[in-house]
Amino acid sequence: MTIQIDVLTIFPEYFTIPLQNSLLGKAIQEGIMKVKIHNIRDFAKDKHKTVDDTPYGGGPGMVMKCEPIFDAIDDLKGSNSLEHIILLSPGGKILTQDKVKEMAQWKDFVLICGRYEGVDERIVENLITEEISIGDYVLSGGELPALVVIEAVSRMLPGVIGEWESVTNDSLYDGLLSYPQYTKPAEFRGMKVPEILLSGNHEKIRIWREEQSLSRTKKKRPDLLEKYLEKKKTNDEQVE
Ligand SMILES: C[S@@+](CC[C@H](N)C(=O)[O-])C[C@H]1O[C@@H](n2cnc3c(N)ncnc32)[C@H](O)[C@@H]1O
Repeated sequence: MTIQIDVLTIFPEYFTIPLQNSLLGKAIQEGIMKVKIHNIRDFAKDKHKTVDDTPYGGGPGMVMKCEPIFDAIDDLKGSNSLEHIILLSPGGKILTQDKVKEMAQWKDFVLICGRYEGVDERIVENLITEEISIGDYVLSGGELPALVVIEAVSRMLPGVIGEWESVTNDSLYDGLLSYPQYTKPAEFRGMKVPEILLSGNHEKIRIWREEQSLSRTKKKRPDLLEKYLEKKKTNDEQVE
């Protein structure tokens, strides 16, 4: 099944290069995912193609208007289930690998890219189903966050990454950071690759990698280790 992602933006050109290259480009060319970019300006009714206006109550900047965004969503009826209409927003829930895995199971979804001071609150209250943030910092628009979502989801789709093991070995797939990686030469400027990796003993290497993964997570991201251990405890209790 091909997952379909409809993106609403006032900067469609932002998406051209990223969607044509590398693994994302391949996923689209091979029909594993379909990404359609819609220009919100095409739904503006006036001759200047206005998509924003001044905020009621005063204050700086401009706010994205309701009409073009509601109309753009109406236009998707029939081609997208509209079960998941997501606004990229610094006020949204922070994107996690678990969320990405969940989204990769969806048949389709819509991503709305905000600009200026954001969108009219009536869009948030009446149109969108959830808000997603890519981190606690503010960007100038939702286009880069939308690309982050699309690329992260693409990696979870069978057939996009050649070897599924490289997906499951990635940091955060199972909630932990990845083990360290090395490549040739075995010694560079006096710095040596850990002996165990040259041993050829696959079982010992597997155990070493598991230990590294745990110790690196403990050192660099203790918050993740805590979550991982809590989840593991719950799963173990359910099995018993
Ligand atoms: C300059 S921001 C608006 C910020 C808004 N005034 C606020 O305080 O929430 C413009 C747009 O960029 C996008 N954006 C900015 N930072 C983001 C983040 N961390 N995650 C997702 N989207 C973000 C959103 O679509 C937002 O509507």
